[in-house]
Amino acid sequence: MQSQLLINIKQLVNTGSGIRPLYGKEMADLPCLENAWLLIEGEEIAGFGKMDSLKKDLPNLPGVKTDCNGKLVLPCWCDSHTHIVFAGSRESEFVDKIRGLSYAEINARGGGILNTVQKINEISSDELFRISWKRLEEVARLGTGAIEIKSGYGLSLEGELKMLRVIRQLKEKSSLHIKSTFLGAHAYPLIYRENHAAYIKEIVDEMLPVIAKEKLADYIDVFCEKGFFNPEESEIILRAGLRYGLQPKMHVNQLNTTGGVETGIKLNAISMDHLEIMPDEDISKIKNSGWKGICTLLPAAAFFLRMEFPPARKLLDSGFAIALASDYNPGSAPSGNMNIVIALACIQMKLLPEEAINAATINGAFAMGLGNSLGTISRGKLANLIITSEVPSMEYLPYSFGSNLIDKIIIRGKFIA
Ligand code: NIG
Ligand code: FE
Repeated sequence: MQSQLLINIKQLVNTGSGIRPLYGKEMADLPCLENAWLLIEGEEIAGFGKMDSLKKDLPNLPGVKTDCNGKLVLPCWCDSHTHIVFAGSRESEFVDKIRGLSYAEINARGGGILNTVQKINEISSDELFRISWKRLEEVARLGTGAIEIKSGYGLSLEGELKMLRVIRQLKEKSSLHIKSTFLGAHAYPLIYRENHAAYIKEIVDEMLPVIAKEKLADYIDVFCEKGFFNPEESEIILRAGLRYGLQPKMHVNQLNTTGGVETGIKLNAISMDHLEIMPDEDISKIKNSGWKGICTLLPAAAFFLRMEFPPARKLLDSGFAIALASDYNPGSAPSGNMNIVIALACIQMKLLPEEAINAATINGAFAMGLGNSLGTISRGKLANLIITSEVPSMEYLPYSFGSNLIDKIIIRGKFIA
């Protein structure tokens, strides 16, 4: 087995035990080791320590050595909420929004999600795979080592299967960890606008059995929102997914509060995502329920839609576990750059850099069921690592937002960039 040694690492960031998600105050604790080495054997992190403990043995150690003088080493980002399998782009709606239309108005007139649905119907599976692969490569170079990808732009048996099969192809070909989420309940197709029950029946009776049979999804998700799926409709769909072993995720409280948070608690969602609009009442409901899932915040979507940012500090003060994800999609967040997401979280939601990095690594990993193998620098976890360029400190990463501060990326023990 090929071993590799990273030496003279200025700071090894996030050497926490990483055995469970971090809640509330715990998130401010980001264990780091200065002037360190790290040993990779095969795909795994085999050990790490201070350079002092290694110096005299260094010339005799086998394997490839990489000098990381002045550089930081971090676990790769775990992006637990994306829609990167999409066709086309929606910059004309971006301009409509500049001119004054809201995201909800654009969706209501048949644009938005339904605009992308039409493009998914028109594109071939091969082409959809090709453009999605390019996006995956792009985010990998930006430091993402594990990613969740949702369907939800097919909104028919054929369209949803097309997307989920492309996600499966990505899983097979990529060395990144990929989790797949069925989001048939992303919007009502135009023909079902007046007949919600018929579309829900199609999801439950036609889509889910095939998806389960072909093992195409790890999770099920709904867009629980005014004008989309209400809490009762969401519950029917999520319960149907649970019967096939798909744990729920939810898009909830993005534009309004409709009671969806209670559905997430009741069905023990692994994560509730967005949470831009969080009245104290909803925070109390979660707190009193004892729900231990992850609150996944998507600051790039709030930024892009010029919306209020989620009340991250209040959520942390309430003791919740927060993850950060990109939401990469053509409508509300056309970027998968987790470095910018982390900067936005610090700048706009007042997360400390320590909290933001924990949210984008270990808590993101747990939001997609990968916490035991990813998200921290721990012996036995996979060697998915970011080596930064020469930077003065860990805090410099979100501070110097927009700069490319990544020098190299290692995925499963191999340099990919
Ligand atoms: O997470 N909110 C719903 N879904 C996506 C946006 C999808 C789109 O506009 O294409 C989101 O923001
Ligand atoms: Fe989303």
